[in-house]
Amino acid sequence: MDNFTFYSPTYFVFGKDTESQAGELVKKFGGSKVLIHYGGGSVVRSGLLDRVKSSLSASGISFVELGGVKPNPRSGLVYEGIDLCRKENVDFILAVGGGSTIDSSKAIAAGTLYDGDFWDLYSGTPITAALPVGTVLTIAAAGSEGSPNTVITKEEGMIKRGSGSDLLRPKFSILNPALTQTLPPYQTAAGATDIMAHLYERYLTNTKEVEVTDRLIEALLLTMKKETPRVIADPDNYDARANIMWAGMMAHNNSCGVGRSQDWTSHGIEHELSALYDCAHGAGLAVTMPANFRYVVDHDVMRFAQVAVRVWGCQMDFTDPKKTALEGIDKLQEFLISIGMPSTLEEVGGSKEDIPKLVQMLTHVNGNNGTISGFTTLDEEDCTAIYESMLRK
Ligand code: NZQ
Ligand code: ZN
Repeated sequence: MDNFTFYSPTYFVFGKDTESQAGELVKKFGGSKVLIHYGGGSVVRSGLLDRVKSSLSASGISFVELGGVKPNPRSGLVYEGIDLCRKENVDFILAVGGGSTIDSSKAIAAGTLYDGDFWDLYSGTPITAALPVGTVLTIAAAGSEGSPNTVITKEEGMIKRGSGSDLLRPKFSILNPALTQTLPPYQTAAGATDIMAHLYERYLTNTKEVEVTDRLIEALLLTMKKETPRVIADPDNYDARANIMWAGMMAHNNSCGVGRSQDWTSHGIEHELSALYDCAHGAGLAVTMPANFRYVVDHDVMRFAQVAVRVWGCQMDFTDPKKTALEGIDKLQEFLISIGMPSTLEEVGGSKEDIPKLVQMLTHVNGNNGTISGFTTLDEEDCTAIYESMLRK
């Protein structure tokens, strides 16, 4: 196991009706003037926004609002949020929504206290200060409710980039699984796929002797394998929703990624898809993961065979472990298709003609110098082959 530090200061409040505690929690963490940030309207329609506002008012907290965050959140609204926070002397940001709303909130939080263009903070300038952020989560997916990360798309050139700092870990996150019952099945499945991807990206490691984190990841993957079909079949299944919601947090606050190298190439390959085609991040991952895994399987056949046996119930073929490894990847893909996820580039809006552009963005424009690295190093030719293998056969 490698040396590591792990700092996860978020205060989690989990369960039914917990959004009614938003006001006291903002107060507990020092907020007095709040920006409530939200998405395209689901929280208005469900009545959640009104409940959160009532809770703030009951605690004597004043607020301003900014809605309109789009999935794959854009820089334009971040600039607007920064201006609003400065003008209104906001001292706390409350994200009410999914990963996109939380990521946009984190960008505004850091940008408000940065003397320059906030995009610098997504281009290598370290984040040294940020307003505190709290969240009321409405979809189990990105894990931003417990993570130090934020991903924003710059409209000019549709460049999707991540940034991160422990300063961006939410002060508190309210996780009420019942709030996720209004999700359309496709969004539920895309969220589940993202959670599984966060686990695989950590499982694919070059670090030896990491039994504790291997076993944690396997447990969470087994949970997702059991609970996701239950919520697809019965969206109101609170207990299955609850298990998925906590799995989503654990998958990405890095408790099961410490002390080991990680992959993240499937995410890199995906981010170009959601940047160019505006597809759901999880749907893109359903296409990129199996393709990438099949391409790199020879790098460590036993690692893929291990997850195939322990999670997907494959029989270990000791004479041909690669057969087992590939069977596990097939089972992952079959599972993703069974919950309604796509399996080809075309299904997320892509086409063969776009591949050179996707590869160019991935390996050059997005802060890379011709390669991307994680579990293995992939050059332009490798990335081209991976995108091509996603085309409909
Ligand atoms: O905008 P509204 O109207 O709220 O609708 C949203 C949106 O259309 C809807 N939705 C959310 N909760 C709902 C609901 N609809 C009905 N009922 C509810 N309870 O779902 C749609 C997707 O929402 P979004 O916030 O985009 O989903 P998600 O949480 O998957 O976030 C995706 C973004 O997170 C980034 C992705 O790249 C993508 O931009 N990621 C962030 C990470 C992080 N910060 O650590 C890590 C991830 O790997 C990921 O890259
Ligand atoms: Zn993700």
